[in-house]
Amino acid sequence: MKIILLGPPGAGKGTQARLLTEKFQAPQISTGDMLREAVRQGTKLGLKAQEFMKAGQLVPDEVVIGIIEERLAKNDAKRGFILDGFPRTVEQAKALGGIFSRSGEKIDAVLNFRVPDEDLVGRLAGRRLCAKCGAGYHLDFSAPTKEGVCDKCKSPLIQRDDDREETIQKRLDVYKKQTAPLIDYYNREGILKNINGVGDFKEIFRQVLAALGK
Ligand code: AP5
Repeated sequence: MKIILLGPPGAGKGTQARLLTEKFQAPQISTGDMLREAVRQGTKLGLKAQEFMKAGQLVPDEVVIGIIEERLAKNDAKRGFILDGFPRTVEQAKALGGIFSRSGEKIDAVLNFRVPDEDLVGRLAGRRLCAKCGAGYHLDFSAPTKEGVCDKCKSPLIQRDDDREETIQKRLDVYKKQTAPLIDYYNREGILKNINGVGDFKEIFRQVLAALGK
């Protein structure tokens, strides 16, 4: 299946992408993860992306479109993928449409996760990640057994730079201005499915499967 996950920061795209990956054996392609890895490695791309990400701004379209084009050309993406965090602007959506029209493929569904702003702020501000293995925690919903330490590999937990309160609001504003127009864009294409992103993540996943007809 070729699926796009749409929704504001903290809507649960990454969480649901991981469940879809397990279910359909299709890769999760997250531009956020790819950019963070580039920042971690200090590559030219990472150095360019870092300041935008830290400020809660989008990385320029031409940079992100280039990364995605390269990633989608890899063998493991040929049969299907879960796009998490791309496209994020109408320009990116048009570029993706161009890539697919050239190869004669099409997107099966765009899942739009709807969550109120007050829930999003709480989810992002409380998120912690393992610096080594990347395991995710939340201070209220899924706290580690020992504060600040990963249950799985015992490494320290960190907070994403852009999960600080002052940056979260900026990300939500950027989403409303630059990404929310994609809801209409894909609605007009007839492939948008709305998902209520509030509640237990397994229940949300059941909604996801139903929306996909699975
Ligand atoms: P990116 O990494 O894509 O971040 P995001 O879209 O802001 O999304 P998040 O990862 O914060 O949230 P999510 O929806 O995946 O939720 P999650 O499942 O993690 O992008 C980061 C930055 O990179 C951007 O700001 C931009 O600078 C750049 N970038 C990336 N893509 C780009 C692009 N295409 N163009 C330009 N720039 C780009 O869940 C969040 C938290 O909530 C977790 O703690 C989780 O445990 C919890 N949670 C999940 N589900 C539930 C639930 N049902 N109930 C309670 N808590 C839940």
